[in-house]
Amino acid sequence: MTTEVVSAEEQSAIDRAVAALQAGEAIGLPTETVYGLAADALNTDAVLKIFEAKERPRFDPLIVHLPDAGWLDRLTDPSPVSKTLIASLTSSFWPGPLTLVLPRQAAVSDIVAAGLGTVAVRMSAHPVFQRVVESFGRPLAAPSANRFGRISPTTAEHVRSELDGRVPLIVDGGPTLHGLESTIVAVRAGHIEILRHGPVTAEELGAFADVRPAQLFAHPEAPGQLASHYAPRTPLVLCTKLSDFALPAGTRAGALAFGPFTRTGFTEVRTLSPDSDLREAAANLFRGLRELDQLELDLIVAEEVPETGLGRAIMDRLRRAAALGGG
Ligand code: TXA
Ligand code: MG
Repeated sequence: MTTEVVSAEEQSAIDRAVAALQAGEAIGLPTETVYGLAADALNTDAVLKIFEAKERPRFDPLIVHLPDAGWLDRLTDPSPVSKTLIASLTSSFWPGPLTLVLPRQAAVSDIVAAGLGTVAVRMSAHPVFQRVVESFGRPLAAPSANRFGRISPTTAEHVRSELDGRVPLIVDGGPTLHGLESTIVAVRAGHIEILRHGPVTAEELGAFADVRPAQLFAHPEAPGQLASHYAPRTPLVLCTKLSDFALPAGTRAGALAFGPFTRTGFTEVRTLSPDSDLREAAANLFRGLRELDQLELDLIVAEEVPETGLGRAIMDRLRRAAALGGG
C-alpha cells in the first residue's frame, strides 16, 4: 500500500478522507491533541485495520470520536446519578481534549471496547477532524497514530514515519495544538477519576466534582496506564536539574530541557520551552523526544517539570518513557 500525505489546505482533502472512511479504510487525521488513526467506529472490519496498522493488542480499547454530543445517547448508558455531571463536563469541555469513559450500549462493538463494559468517548476540537467526522456522519474510532507503545505523533510526518505503507492516506493539518493525548476520566457516582492526565487538568476538573487519581498500577484499565508506554528506543532517565546531572564519561547523551539550557557535555539539547511555559513544553514534548530518539544516542536525560496543572500530564508521559528505556 502506498501512503499519501495530503495537505488539509487542499480542496479535496476532506472529501478524500471521507471517501476512504466510507470505503472502510483507517487513515491518519489531525486532532488538537495528537494525530489519530481513524476508522468507522461502527464497522468492525474497518476498526480491525486500526489494530493491524498499529500492531495494537486487541485488549486495548479505542476512543470513539463523536460527530456531535447527541451521539452520547446512542452509544453510552450512564447511570442516572452521573448524568448531570456528564452534562456539565461535556458542555464545558467539548469539543476538546477530554475523554469520558462511560458504560456502553450494544451499538459499540466488543472490538472497539476490547470486551469492557464501557466505552471511551470524546469530541475533537480540530477543525479538520470536525469537518471529516461531520460529513462522514458517524463516530470515528481513533487511537494515537503511532505503533503500539511508541511516542504519539504530533505532525503528519511523524505519522508517516510510524505507519508508512500501512495506511492509504494521512491528512496533514500541521503540528497539533496540545501535543499530548486527551485527559481520560471515568465518571463515578459523585466523583471524577482521572485515568490519564492530559490537557484538561485536575485543577480544572476539580471545579465540577471531587477528583481522584486512578489507582494506576493496581488496576490498569487503560494500557496508557501501563508503566512503560510512550517509549523511545533510547534509554531515558529523569533528573531534577540538568545542570546538576553527572553525565558518565564517554556517554553520548541528549538533553530534553524544560527551559533555557546551554551546558556543554550533551551531544544534543532540545529545549521544550524557552520561557519555561508548561503549555509550550507539552506541545513540544513528543517532537523533542522523537528527535532525540532518532540520533542513536546512548542516553536521553529529561528534566523534570513542576508537577502542577499540565505539568502532571508531562511528568506522567516522561515517567512512562523512562520506565523501560530502550524497550
Ligand atoms: O487525544 C487522544 O485521546 C488521542 C486522539 C487521537 O484522540 N487518542 C488516543 O487514543 O490517545 P489511544 O488509543 O492512543 O489512547 C486511548 C487510551 C488507551 O490507553 C486505552 O486503553 C484507553 O484510552 N481506553 C479506551 N477505552 C477505554 C475504556 N473503556 N476504559 C478505560 N480506558 C480506555
Ligand atoms: Mg496512544
